[in-house]
Amino acid sequence: MENSLRSYKLMLLLALALVLFLTMELTSLASAGVLDNNSKVYIVYLGEREHDDPEVVTASHHQMLESFFESKEDAHNSIIYSYQHGFSGFAAILTPSQAKKISEHPSVIHVIPNRILKLQTTRTWDHLGLSRIPTSLSTSSTSSKGLLHDTNMGSEAIIGVMDTGIWPESKVVEDQGLGPIPKRWRGKCVSGDQFNATIHCNNKLIGAKFYLDGLLAETEGKFNITELQEFKSNRDASGHGTHTATIAGGSFVHNVSFYGLAGGTVRGGAPRARIASYKVCWSGVGCTTADMWKAYDDAIHDRVDVLSVSLGGHIPEDSEVDALDFIAAFHAVAQGIPVVAAAGNYGPRAQTVLNVAPWFLTVAATTLDRSFPTKITLGNNQTFFVESLYTGPEISTGLAFLNPYSDERIDVKGKTIIVFDTHFPMGIDSLFNIGVVGIILAQKPDDLILECHDSPCVFTTDYELGTDILQYIRTTRSPTVRISAAKSLTGPPATTKVAAFSSRGPNSVSPAILKPDIAAPGVNILAALSPLHLGAYNGFGLETGTSMSTPVVSGIVALLKSLHPHWSPAAIRSALVTTAWRTSPSGEPIFAEGSNKKLADPFDYGGGLVNPEKAAKPGLVYDMGIEGYISYMCSAGYNDSSISRVLGKKTICPTPEPSILDINLPSITIPNLEEEVTLTRTVTNVGPIKSVYKAVVESPLGINLTVSPTTLVFSSATKRVLTFTVKAKRSHKVNTGYFFGSLTWTDGVHNVTIPVSVKTKFMIKS
Ligand SMILES: *[C@@H]1O[C@H](CO)[C@@H](O)[C@H](O)[C@H]1NC(C)=O
Ligand SMILES: *[C@@H]1O[C@H](CO)[C@@H](O)[C@H](O)[C@H]1NC(C)=O
Ligand SMILES: *[C@@H]1O[C@H](CO)[C@@H](O)[C@H](O)[C@H]1NC(C)=O
Ligand SMILES: *[C@@H]1O[C@H](CO)[C@@H](O)[C@H](O)[C@H]1NC(C)=O
Ligand SMILES: *[C@@H]1O[C@H](CO)[C@@H](O)[C@H](O)[C@H]1NC(C)=O
Ligand SMILES: *[C@@H]1O[C@H](CO)[C@@H](O)[C@H](O)[C@H]1NC(C)=O
Ligand SMILES: *[C@@H]1O[C@H](CO)[C@@H](O)[C@H](O)[C@H]1NC(C)=O
Ligand SMILES: *[C@@H]1O[C@H](CO)[C@@H](O)[C@H](O)[C@H]1NC(C)=O
Repeated sequence: MENSLRSYKLMLLLALALVLFLTMELTSLASAGVLDNNSKVYIVYLGEREHDDPEVVTASHHQMLESFFESKEDAHNSIIYSYQHGFSGFAAILTPSQAKKISEHPSVIHVIPNRILKLQTTRTWDHLGLSRIPTSLSTSSTSSKGLLHDTNMGSEAIIGVMDTGIWPESKVVEDQGLGPIPKRWRGKCVSGDQFNATIHCNNKLIGAKFYLDGLLAETEGKFNITELQEFKSNRDASGHGTHTATIAGGSFVHNVSFYGLAGGTVRGGAPRARIASYKVCWSGVGCTTADMWKAYDDAIHDRVDVLSVSLGGHIPEDSEVDALDFIAAFHAVAQGIPVVAAAGNYGPRAQTVLNVAPWFLTVAATTLDRSFPTKITLGNNQTFFVESLYTGPEISTGLAFLNPYSDERIDVKGKTIIVFDTHFPMGIDSLFNIGVVGIILAQKPDDLILECHDSPCVFTTDYELGTDILQYIRTTRSPTVRISAAKSLTGPPATTKVAAFSSRGPNSVSPAILKPDIAAPGVNILAALSPLHLGAYNGFGLETGTSMSTPVVSGIVALLKSLHPHWSPAAIRSALVTTAWRTSPSGEPIFAEGSNKKLADPFDYGGGLVNPEKAAKPGLVYDMGIEGYISYMCSAGYNDSSISRVLGKKTICPTPEPSILDINLPSITIPNLEEEVTLTRTVTNVGPIKSVYKAVVESPLGINLTVSPTTLVFSSATKRVLTFTVKAKRSHKVNTGYFFGSLTWTDGVHNVTIPVSVKTKFMIKS
């Protein structure tokens, strides 16, 4: 009984973890034709709003739609959302022919089918070298210096989190010691199922809204919210949103541990920041773009400082659709709100990175320098370290290999078994029922670690290790194994690696725009969960994914915005990218996990591993306003009238068309170098007024990079912006594939480094 309960829990944990990390998608709903008359949800995008009064904007949407319906009433009933704050447009249920007719209307920029998207710490902060901090929010004196101290831990920052909502009773949203809500805040908390705005919101959780209408319309309400144990409110059923919100801006919670491991204080990156939770994703069903657009619309209106979006679509196959889905995020960035988004969990294959538009700050995931090493010793005295959360007594048992697809009968009673995740039997509870004592799960790198209470369940960190153990079993008459309890290992590291699952560049939509931008820890991060999450222990749990690395960066962005309120999203991105660690904080190289281990390159981690203290004082920034994004849109094929409407003002793409290589990004990516190309960049001095920077170039193999001028002299407060050119010339003709280098401007104090990636075009000499 006890055994089966335990293993049932393990099975559920596994199932749930898979749902959270891998799927959170129900594309079948969209494709199953649940709308029997072919109607579907479309987003009609109209660009910048033409009127300041949101009611006038909405009235104009109704009026416009009336001409496409037989009655006024039908038109009004078809509207799901009116986007009226950050930009103009609406979501409506339309037939394909209505959608087509509307797309021909002169004031419509695009009609976009609604899509279903997926959801894609204690030690985190120390690991990154963010200065040590007082141990409680109520301690007002902060003796240490650094970014947290200088920003009062982000107490004036408002972090918007677009996710599955929040568990409002969690200690991480207690508001002890926090001052009043920042005056500029215009958002609110909305009551709903088991969520009372008066009780559940406070000076920490200052916004809580939920968006379900797009999903209901998309699925024709074909899911039962009660059965899914969801709440028709901001209350978080899955735990994903509570986890991401904690990582970005959770309050201090002391003495947190996970089954006795990883003990310590949990806190967010900006522990005093305010949290505004926008629930757009629904447990077991997913999230739709129509709902997300409304959340963007509201977040812009509400005046969040940063938006954290641990969500993504599918691997971009249809660049047109993806470019369109991203426009709502563009409007946030155009109004000065950085949007931090997940790179996705589709690695290590190339060209799998999501959220590739240049206005996103796109985040890859690395492993932490912490693990829970668990020693296993085989009968031949070979010793391995695997990962587990096993804290019970050492066990010594026979060892057997279980292949559920094999007919061979093996005796597993009283033994430890090894099983490969590719073979993972759904009925794992039956393993314990038939007397299995321990489980070794051989899995691919950086997957899950789970707890099976008092039974040892241990997890290898790659298949190779599993194969080695299998080899031992096959060559030994009576194989045995000894398993000890796990320990918390905290630095000096285990090497930092880009996690295998983290999506990789190059950017499949616009290869000249480097993605991801930056990396942050995202493996086995301890943070608050919904207690309904079966992986939760006292309201906390470990989660893995770019969903987790994204809010790490969102918290840092909140601090940087507090410190430099006038920095644009592009300047903040530049500060992060140019100061990132390219070796681990202890000086070890950073590897990229995948089919074969290699040193990480910009397609794995962008500029590198985020380094918050350095990002606070970057020296120079590669800044960019709207004009950079206009160049991008021009080169992406938007025409003048479309861009004009996106921006709400007459805009003409320059002729000749601007080169995408000249967009002032803190990176240089040349996807198709013929003989040579010259591009320009502009840097803004945000350090000491009188500064002299020298260029240090590291050319990619087979490429000759030359920078002109090689010295930048900043001498007055009025001349803080200087432009330089970079010439890339191929120095031999045999290259295929990308090669990597860097360009650093250094004044002896600041190293401002951008990654350079070049692929030469394959040419046959005639
Ligand atoms: C078509 O579907 C929509 C959305 O479910 C519904 O409102 C409408 O009444 C349906 N029309 C017909 C003719 O069935
Ligand atoms: C929410 O809580 C307040 C304060 O306890 C109470 O007055 C109010 O009736 C509650 N609202 C709902 C909808 O339960
Ligand atoms: C949803 O599920 C609950 C519990 O299973 C049930 O009581 C309820 O009738 C269902 N609602 C609908 C609309 O099917
Ligand atoms: C920490 O928590 C553990 C159990 O969760 C408890 O036994 C211990 O007393 C706590 N320590 C402190 C200092 O609160
Ligand atoms: C393994 O080590 C133990 C103690 O160190 C020793 O007694 C035993 O003979 C060793 N076994 C093998 C197969 O080497
Ligand atoms: C601009 O693009 C839109 C949508 O792609 C199209 O309808 C329109 O005709 C284009 N205008 C010009 C001037 O090419
Ligand atoms: C690179 O090009 C510059 C001029 O463009 C030239 O002076 C230099 O010698 C070249 N370096 C190499 C290694 O080819
Ligand atoms: C800048 O980079 C150089 C070369 O890698 C290194 O020697 C120097 O210590 C760095 N300076 C700072 C302030 O990081």
